[in-house]
Amino acid sequence: MTSSSPPTGDISVPITRVVLVAATAALGGFLFGFDTAVINGAVSAIGEQFSTGPLLLGFSVASALIGCAIGAWFAGRIADRFGRIRVMLLAAALFVLSSLGCGLAFGIWDLSFWRVIGGLGVGAASVIAPAYIAEVSPPPYRGRLGSLQQMAIVTGIFVALLTDAAIVAAAGSSTEPWLFGLEAWRWMFLSELVPAVIYGLLALTIPESPRYLIARGELVKAKSVLSRYVGGDVEKTTTDILQTVKGASDRPRFSILRGKAFGLLPIVWVGIGLSVLQQFTGINVIFYYSTTLWQAVGFTEQDSLTITVITSVTNIVTTIVAILLIDRIGRKPLLLVGAIGQFACLAVLAVMFATAPIVDGEPVLDGAAGPIALIAANLYVVFFGASWGPVVWVLLGEMFSNRIRAVALSVAAAAQWAANFVISTTFPALAAVGLGLAYGIYTFFAFAAIFFVIRFVRETKGRTLESMDDGDRPIPTVGSGA
Ligand code: GLC
Repeated sequence: MTSSSPPTGDISVPITRVVLVAATAALGGFLFGFDTAVINGAVSAIGEQFSTGPLLLGFSVASALIGCAIGAWFAGRIADRFGRIRVMLLAAALFVLSSLGCGLAFGIWDLSFWRVIGGLGVGAASVIAPAYIAEVSPPPYRGRLGSLQQMAIVTGIFVALLTDAAIVAAAGSSTEPWLFGLEAWRWMFLSELVPAVIYGLLALTIPESPRYLIARGELVKAKSVLSRYVGGDVEKTTTDILQTVKGASDRPRFSILRGKAFGLLPIVWVGIGLSVLQQFTGINVIFYYSTTLWQAVGFTEQDSLTITVITSVTNIVTTIVAILLIDRIGRKPLLLVGAIGQFACLAVLAVMFATAPIVDGEPVLDGAAGPIALIAANLYVVFFGASWGPVVWVLLGEMFSNRIRAVALSVAAAAQWAANFVISTTFPALAAVGLGLAYGIYTFFAFAAIFFVIRFVRETKGRTLESMDDGDRPIPTVGSGA
């Protein structure tokens, strides 16, 4: 296969069938995006309603991320023990609880508690969607099907933004009692009930993962799922999976601990590195703080809101680019181009912020600096959206062997949420010292990402999951298993 040729392979199943199943699992990503973004519209109203200071308010926002890390950490173990579908159901239940709890909260502490519960759901969904999609996809389409998760995440972010705006517009104010005497900000959280229930119900309609079924010895069921969704030579795939999952059902968590580097397998470290670098280039500063960020450098509140919407749409559109390219040119080239592009844009932002004249103690982007910074920030989102956003999740879903996938992915995703927490909680303090410093740090990590990809990332395009490395066997060359 030449590097630009369309994917080929034995696709003996109608692709729409597997797209529907993958899209259902990706709904977990929609809730991931929705849940993390919906608080944006509610946060100042919550502060007012509960007379909460900025520190505690910041904590209530960030606390969800701690829940995400914990949810991700446990999801893999639960998925190996009780199945992939049960994790989706559990996540849906957590979303429902959190939505009700936050919407009906009495004060900032119980609201934070319910945000953590929602975070557990987000973390679990962030692990189970990529693992499940990789496990039910035909190899030639696995990249684009896996990218549906990122598409769902960014759509969730966008829909949350719109929902918040629509609710405030309809209610007229965020803090006055509205429908059933509940204030608009409460309805923002309650609106999450709709996607959460849909996710739970649809999860009941999709089949269990064949890799999980085989690990549990349910060969007949597994073969039927393989022939309906994955296609290809079902007998051979079953035998291959059987070989790779041997010993998986007994204590899979120990199988990621055989490596020499701090006890973890090298491949798990690569997953952690990808996760951390994805976050350390500051993507979520753009999403979580964009209004504050743009206001801080002289844009009006209305302009800042418009910029946030544009950035969000940009992210959705560029995910399509990744979907079109990922199975053609592969994961590694996308990551490489993405890292170089992000580095260039972040460097421009760092210089713009660092050299902005200070007016009344604040940096102001005047003249051409404003538009240049805006273009650089959106181009940064373009590069991220077409590369590191989707590709990291796809790789985490497919780069580990059957034996360790769920648990290794859990560890890498938990690291990603921890990194997200670090970046989001340190940004205000860094920004107070100087936005140039904050962006200088993100630029450094984008630079490091270029070398990380070159040195540590292996191409997975077209390979079967059965040919992935688990640290025990030599790694087959690209294409050998497809
Ligand atoms: C990826 C990141 C997530 C981020 C999103 C934005 O999914 O993992 O943290 O919010 O991209 O596009």
